[in-house]
Amino acid sequence: SSNVVVAIDGYSSCGKSTLAKALAKKLHFIYVDSGAMYRAVTLYFLRNNVDLKDEEAILAALKDVHLNFHSRDYNSHILLNDEEVSDEIRLMPVSENVSAVAALKSVRHEMVKQQQRMGASKNIVMDGRDIGTAVFPNAQVKVFMTADPKVRAERRFKELSPANPDLTLEDVFENLAHRDYADTTRAESPLTRAADAIILDNTNLTPEQQLDFALEKLKPFL
Ligand code: C5P
Repeated sequence: SSNVVVAIDGYSSCGKSTLAKALAKKLHFIYVDSGAMYRAVTLYFLRNNVDLKDEEAILAALKDVHLNFHSRDYNSHILLNDEEVSDEIRLMPVSENVSAVAALKSVRHEMVKQQQRMGASKNIVMDGRDIGTAVFPNAQVKVFMTADPKVRAERRFKELSPANPDLTLEDVFENLAHRDYADTTRAESPLTRAADAIILDNTNLTPEQQLDFALEKLKPFL
């Protein structure tokens, strides 16, 4: 097919979605936040006390989870069974459990299937952990993002703390470290750089510089 796929992977809170949204907006591509999908599934599992060791319960729950995106303004509002959950999925209960849910084979199988369908014939930017390795191994452009862990924790803390006065920088730092560890060491498509992914360390880069970098890499395909 002739559609263009941009895969953006990397560690937690590296600015993947900021870059992905800016690219999608600039190029009029569809943006999909694959992490939001794992987060919404996690929210459903928490609300319904799904036992992560019970394979049948997991499969039954997955059948009851219907995810949709409102792609207004590329903000990627996500609907879980028609309920807007975009804010709730960013809170600590979900952040603390999402990597365990995302490690489950049946969960990944279902999410990857839905993600591949979304990008089957459309120009798309998708960010996550396994987009360039498992979801779209043939993506034209793959970016692997990284940044200093302290800088990442500070950025995320600034985003979350206004609405969460009890949250500490340490909580955020610990959560990022925990998720990076879980995501890189799991058995099912762990976070790893695809051999053909370009590394982008954005510790000292502005969002504009990152956008320019990605646009330059995309030039041959536009
Ligand atoms: O991107 P975000 O940080 O919101 O993702 C939340 C979690 O979802 C990650 O820490 C990871 O465990 C999981 N995830 C994944 N594969 C993806 C996207 C996210 O396993 N493609």
